Amino acid sequence: MPPQEHIQPPVQTPKGTRDFYPEDMRIQNHLFDGWRKTCHAFGYEEYEGPTFEHLELYVGKSGPEIVEQLYHFKDKGDRDLALRPELTPTLARMVNQKGNSLRLPIKWFSIPRLFRYERAQRGRLREFFQLNMDIIGCDTIAAEVDLISAVIEMLKGFGLGSNDFAVRISSRKLLSEFLDHLGIEAEKKPAVYTALDKRAKIGEEKFRVLLSEQGINTETANRLEAFFQCRSIEDIVSRVEGMNDPAGLSELKELFALLAQLGHGDFVCIDTSVVRGLAYYTGIVFEVFDKGQNLRAIAGGGRYDSLLSSLGGLAIPAVGFGMGDVVLADLLNGKGLLPIKRQGLDYYLADVASSEGLPRTELLSLAQRLRVKGRAVSYSLNGGKLKKQLAEANDQGVSRVLFLGSDRAPAGSYEMKDLTSGEQKMVGEEEL
Ligand code: HAM
Repeated sequence: MPPQEHIQPPVQTPKGTRDFYPEDMRIQNHLFDGWRKTCHAFGYEEYEGPTFEHLELYVGKSGPEIVEQLYHFKDKGDRDLALRPELTPTLARMVNQKGNSLRLPIKWFSIPRLFRYERAQRGRLREFFQLNMDIIGCDTIAAEVDLISAVIEMLKGFGLGSNDFAVRISSRKLLSEFLDHLGIEAEKKPAVYTALDKRAKIGEEKFRVLLSEQGINTETANRLEAFFQCRSIEDIVSRVEGMNDPAGLSELKELFALLAQLGHGDFVCIDTSVVRGLAYYTGIVFEVFDKGQNLRAIAGGGRYDSLLSSLGGLAIPAVGFGMGDVVLADLLNGKGLLPIKRQGLDYYLADVASSEGLPRTELLSLAQRLRVKGRAVSYSLNGGKLKKQLAEANDQGVSRVLFLGSDRAPAGSYEMKDLTSGEQKMVGEEEL
């Protein structure tokens, strides 16, 4: 008997990662193009950082959830490094490194590939892309207005409307003031924020346990719970009765008035249950959700006025958000706004006289001349029957076919067929 061959199972992609075949790349490029277009229209400039950083950039800054999800490792020089789970600490580091030499405020964007060791679930992967738009050096809500307007215009640009998504807005500042009012000490606040952010995920009972671990009694927990139900400025006003004119509330009022004046009223709402999982937020926070609320957040962000100084820089205010590619593509797909057709080529050169084999030099040099003129051109690499060549042209989304070797065409002219209209005519090379 011949020795049994040892058959290896094919190697799969690691859990939570994706392959991008050309049809997936088309979708990816569609998202990136839409993102870049809005960033450009709003005057943001693109930047990029390294895909791995020193571990300490994240520990203690981003909050426990992200740190639990870090891909970290030691390099050969025994340094502790981590694949970036988000870009905000990198941005803060980069701005800090420039010190006073940047003219503030700056408006920057980036589309990094990020890594998080997440539990595999719909809308959350271990490797994904995330548009980041940030404004550094603006301490008024002009920054929030700019960013929230950009989110809305961007999603509208993809074909979504106010029936499809909403920007849910709250304020860490107001929440912090409310916690002060309830007598919750400053050092307990981070743990309370984490509990609040996890509330929807872990359920009421576990949430209450987390609060009682922080020494928060039932009465206070009930008041927090009630605060969380606010869905309008009026709701908040009634909940914060007895508080002395909270600054967080004035800011929210101002922001909503401005957004309404800009015609964004249908796209935004108050939702005090939005806390954000990341530790560094200090002011307005927001998350974008699909209206069906079947999906995870499409985007999230807010103001983080202390991150730069906590990383050793100057005390410079900052606001920004991140929008992932996974949920957005899911949402667009569900609304019939994908897939995206292959970008069409201008011409396909079909050789009427071709047999199997190398393309003729005449055909190759016509392709070359047309490409020099900026036209996108393809032809069959293997030759073969005309029918086969035309099928290939169709697959490639070509708009026009030029026939070479047709005895009807005078020298220097080609028979051309428009594949969309079916129209056929004779054209000279200079017209192409
Ligand atoms: P984040 O809420 O962690 O914020 O992420 C923002 C968005 O990135 C999410 O709403 C989601 O669309 C996407 N996202 C997050 N994790 C995953 C995942 N595992 N798979 C797929 N998509 C994901 C931040 O990262 C902040 N650094 C954003 C920011 C920028 N804040 C200020 N500036």
